[in-house]
Parts: sequence; structure tokens; C-alpha cells
Amino acid sequence: MKESENRIYFYPIWIRIWHSLNAIGIMILIYTGLNMYYSNRGFRLMDFQLAINLHNITGIMVGLSYLIFTIGNLRTTNHKHYKVKRTGMFEKIKIQSQYYMIGMFKNQHPPYPLSEKRKFNPLQKLIYSIIMYIFMPGLIITGIGLLLPELIIENVYQLSGIFLTAILHASLGFLVTMFLIIHLYVASIGKHPLANFKSILNGYHNTNAH
Ligand code: HEM
Repeated sequence: MKESENRIYFYPIWIRIWHSLNAIGIMILIYTGLNMYYSNRGFRLMDFQLAINLHNITGIMVGLSYLIFTIGNLRTTNHKHYKVKRTGMFEKIKIQSQYYMIGMFKNQHPPYPLSEKRKFNPLQKLIYSIIMYIFMPGLIITGIGLLLPELIIENVYQLSGIFLTAILHASLGFLVTMFLIIHLYVASIGKHPLANFKSILNGYHNTNAH
């Protein structure tokens, strides 16, 4: 990560490639997923079979792009930014939340300004870790199960394995959708509403932005 005056190179090319594929892919998955989920209730945004095919293909693409994220994080120091230290974690999260709820509107300085060493604030770090290391793998594994149902255990305590996998998959999909809405809002907080969006495209974070 190179630092120059008030610009830090936060997002190397592999993060930007993974993030773009993931962002586009997740939006397609949400659209096609909603179409499939509500299809029996007369909710139709597109052809049902087309939604299934597009969901399957995009799911495979998002799964493969997740490999870019995993390998990139393993081979670089980026994984360090996802390490949540338990000591003082709740206090730090409380301080960051108070900033988002009150301080920010009073034009106060962010309690954990970003730097070469601190790429994410404590709340971001916790949420990103949960999303990238629990929810996304869960979504991908249950997605593979639904794509190849012969891999799924037939019955779990007299409940169909496919049914349970589908419920888990849809629930994780819902949680990732909620994350995306909050992620877009939080990403728009900065010196300029578009500053962070520019950063994830050109790689450089402006330290004047929050
Ligand atoms: C339209 C869709 C999306 C947009 C516009 C977007 C935007 C951004 C922006 C501006 C950043 C850099 C600033 C920040 O950290 O807040 C970022 C980073 C990040 N986004 Fe997104 N995002 C999108 C979708 C997603 C999705 C679907 C996920 C995960 C399921 C995700 C996960 C992440 C992660 C983990 C980072 C930090 C990456 C790193 O530096 O290691 N984003 N995103």
C-alpha cells in the first residue's frame, strides 16, 4: 500500500476486479432471485426459466470471483485488515456507531480516521469480516448444493435437506441484500458522496474523505 500526501493506494487491481464482478453479480442475483422466490405469487419481472439460467450462471461467476478475493487476501497483507481483535471491540463499535448516528451530523471528526495501517473503521472491519468470511461462503456453499442437489443429505430430522438448504440460501441472500443497502449508504459518507465510489474504481483513497 503506497501512501502519497493525502492519497493511499487502498484497492490494488485484484480487489477492484473481484469487487466489480461481485457487485455486478450480486445485483443480478438479487434481481433474478427475487423473481424466482416470488414467482408463485404472481410476481414476474422476467421469464422464469431465464431467471433460473441467469441466476445459475451468475452464481458460478460470483463463486469464482470469490476465489480471487480469497487467494488475493491469502497472498497479500490485505487479510490483516479483516482481523477483528476482541479486546475493546464493543467499545470501539459503540464509538463508531455514535459517530454515524450523531457525530457525523455535527461535523465531528471520524473517531478512527483511515490510514495506511487502518483501512477499515472497527464497525466496517467487523461487518466486512462477517460478510466475506461467513455469509458469502455460506451463500456459495448452499448455492452449489442447490445446483447439484445429489450432494445434499436427503433428510435432516425428517426435514428435506433440499428444503433446509433452500431456506438457508434465501436467508443468507436476504442478509447480503441488507448489507448491500447499508454498504451503499455508508460508502456515500465522505467529503463528497461519490468520493469512495471513485476510490474503489481507481484504487486510491483520499484521506480527506471519511
Ligand atoms: C453496487 C454495488 C456495490 C458498490 C457500489 C460498492 C461500493 C464499494 C466502495 C465504494 C467501497 C470502498 C469504500 C468502503 O470500504 O466502503 C467498497 C469496498 C468493499 N465492498 Fe463494496 N460495493 C458494492 C457491492 C458489494 C458487495 C455485494 C459486497 C459483498 C457481498 C461488497 C463488499 C465490499 C468489501 C469487502 C469491500 C472492502 C474490500 C477491501 O478493500 O478489502 N461490496 N465497496
